Amino acid sequence: MISTDVIIIGAGIAAHSVACRLCDNGKKVIMLTKSKKMNCNSTLAQGGISVALGENDSYMSHYEDTLTAGCGLNNKEATLTLVKTAPSVIREFIDDGMNFDKNPDGSLSFGKEAAHKLARVIHAGGDRTGLKVMEQLYVNLADRAEIHEDEPVIDIITKDGEATGVITRTADGKYHTYSAPYIVLATGGIGNLYPGTSNDSTITGDSVALGYRCGAELKNLEFVQFHPTLLTFGGKNYGLITEAVRGDGGVLINEKGEKIMEGVHPLKDLAPRDVVSRAVYTHTLAGEQIYLDISKIHDFKTRFPYVSEICETNGLDLSKNLIPVAPGAHFHMGGVKALPTGETTIKGLYAVGEAACTGVHGANRLASNSLLEGLVFGRLTADNIISSNRALKLCEYEPSSLEPKLPLPSKGSIKKVMMNCVGIIRTESKLKKAVKFFEEYMPDENGFGRINPDSVSDAELEIYNMLTTGWLIAKAALERKESFGAHYIVEDENQ
Ligand code: FUM
Repeated sequence: MISTDVIIIGAGIAAHSVACRLCDNGKKVIMLTKSKKMNCNSTLAQGGISVALGENDSYMSHYEDTLTAGCGLNNKEATLTLVKTAPSVIREFIDDGMNFDKNPDGSLSFGKEAAHKLARVIHAGGDRTGLKVMEQLYVNLADRAEIHEDEPVIDIITKDGEATGVITRTADGKYHTYSAPYIVLATGGIGNLYPGTSNDSTITGDSVALGYRCGAELKNLEFVQFHPTLLTFGGKNYGLITEAVRGDGGVLINEKGEKIMEGVHPLKDLAPRDVVSRAVYTHTLAGEQIYLDISKIHDFKTRFPYVSEICETNGLDLSKNLIPVAPGAHFHMGGVKALPTGETTIKGLYAVGEAACTGVHGANRLASNSLLEGLVFGRLTADNIISSNRALKLCEYEPSSLEPKLPLPSKGSIKKVMMNCVGIIRTESKLKKAVKFFEEYMPDENGFGRINPDSVSDAELEIYNMLTTGWLIAKAALERKESFGAHYIVEDENQ
């Protein structure tokens, strides 16, 4: 049994933001990640960080854009906290060494992305913002936290309704229990529940499943954001083509060269993501190939080095100025219900970043608000923990005797069901079909509860988490009868 001040499950931007602040304040932190610390969505993020630091900008303008993209379903208080706290957190990050891209006069360079009224997105290394931010956070953390890689968390341990620790298993098959008064869920989203995704391959909805199994309230699970432009050809996707490409003049066209966003939305190619994704998807369903025409962008390779690398490594000739694209799962607006200060409905359990649902994103996240959320709410969560005084209770792990229904399905079949039935355009009958598929693997009538870990491998445990999360998302989608943002539901005959 190991005891510490804080356990953080995950190792991306939110996890590191919490860890840095805690370590600055002398807390002992253990971070647990099921793979390597670089395996997170944060290192892959291209877009940037939106923040009202420009001369003509204001946090209220950022607030309005966040609400408009979120279809007004945002939690207004949490959203205000995010946009208002953002400038000081970013300024401090810069003071701590972070180098964002600048104009020749040394001022911060602001880019424009979808659904922002003005250019307010800061970048680092052009389209390598996520990696640069993470590299800076690794420097700032300076090995002050213990990071345990390749150590999946099996379950959060609770006693009398409070979180007291976690149980993990290492590659040698050994179980480890950790006790701490504060346990922070920060494993990111759910991208790999779908066949095409911008997410790292390790992102499989673990926080939703872990939160569910320990009784935490979940929120807005039906809102799954699809990014309109993943490099896609031959039925396979090869990574994100950042929205900043459209911000710089990239245009979505069909095989005849017609602009597909004309007449669809006043903001055309820079309409909110759900609108653009549905437009691209509808053309793709009709058998058309959609391209991002980059001919109007000067010096594309200098401006977008990472996108160029992704295209060229996968054999795409950029001199033709056409990038074949299709939508893919990108971001989960739903998650474990939490406050901006991290508290969930379970005492001792906190959630932050994409794993959490504070309601800031409403039904559809505004571009470049996710790295921001990780940094700002990570900071607020750490400050909350620092000023609290929960006592350590040594946890006791009692393995469940519940057996999973083996064999579990393949990841591929889960992804197929999610895309076909719980994807970009949904119908009631397809959602019911998905729920039925998942329930065939439910170990008992009480849902996807804690199972005996001895009966599953790590790979099976991951699939069990995917089944749990997929089932919960499908059920949540079935409950929301009206379309809002990323949850788009039509009558059966229209699909
Ligand atoms: O298109 C992008 O680079 C994505 C940005 C984001 O998800 O905020």
